[in-house]
Amino acid sequence: MSESNTRIAIYPGTFDPITNGHLDIIMRAAPLFDRVIVTLALNSDKDPLFSVEERMEMMRRTVKDFPHVEAAKFSGLAVDFAHREKANVIIRGLRAVSDFEFEFQMALMNRKQRPEIDTVYLMPDERYTYLSSSIVKEVARHGGNAEAFVPPFVLDLMREKYGK
Ligand code: COA
Repeated sequence: MSESNTRIAIYPGTFDPITNGHLDIIMRAAPLFDRVIVTLALNSDKDPLFSVEERMEMMRRTVKDFPHVEAAKFSGLAVDFAHREKANVIIRGLRAVSDFEFEFQMALMNRKQRPEIDTVYLMPDERYTYLSSSIVKEVARHGGNAEAFVPPFVLDLMREKYGK
């Protein structure tokens, strides 16, 4: 397949930590593209619990069984990273109507920057529509059961962080 026919997508996020909801999106995206780059946004406004290396390691372990999915990081604009990687799609998960307004705004601003790059929205399984990294951390911080929401090695790391 020539490079111009290769379907490359990036899936950006803060991944603090990566959850089963993110994994669900990755599983849906993997068969749709030739290459999927799950990528950590370094200049997120958030104040993450996990370091960049810890998050990268969790992302790498989460994607390791998908042959053409990889983990990466970027700073700056997601569309510029996509352009550098020759990706023409940004993947985002859409969990509920409440996600829509921000996503709509971001997709149109991204299109303004680089019209050749489109945003593709995937809906996670309904089990994950109420998930967020913050809510999972909140449960883990208070010693609750977060087992159903994150991969086992992420659960171990969260327990370690919170001493639970
Ligand atoms: N399952 C579970 N949770 C999910 C989810 C899913 N499928 N999809 C999103 N979430 C959660 C995330 O865990 C996150 O939770 P948190 O707020 O508690 O941390 C929340 O929903 C929002 O996540 P997400 O929508 O992925 O946004 P983000 O804040 O992690 O990342 C960037 C946003 C990084 C993609 C975006 O800011 C970006 O691209 N930044 C780079 C600069 C740029 O290009 N900006 C855009 C200019 S228009």
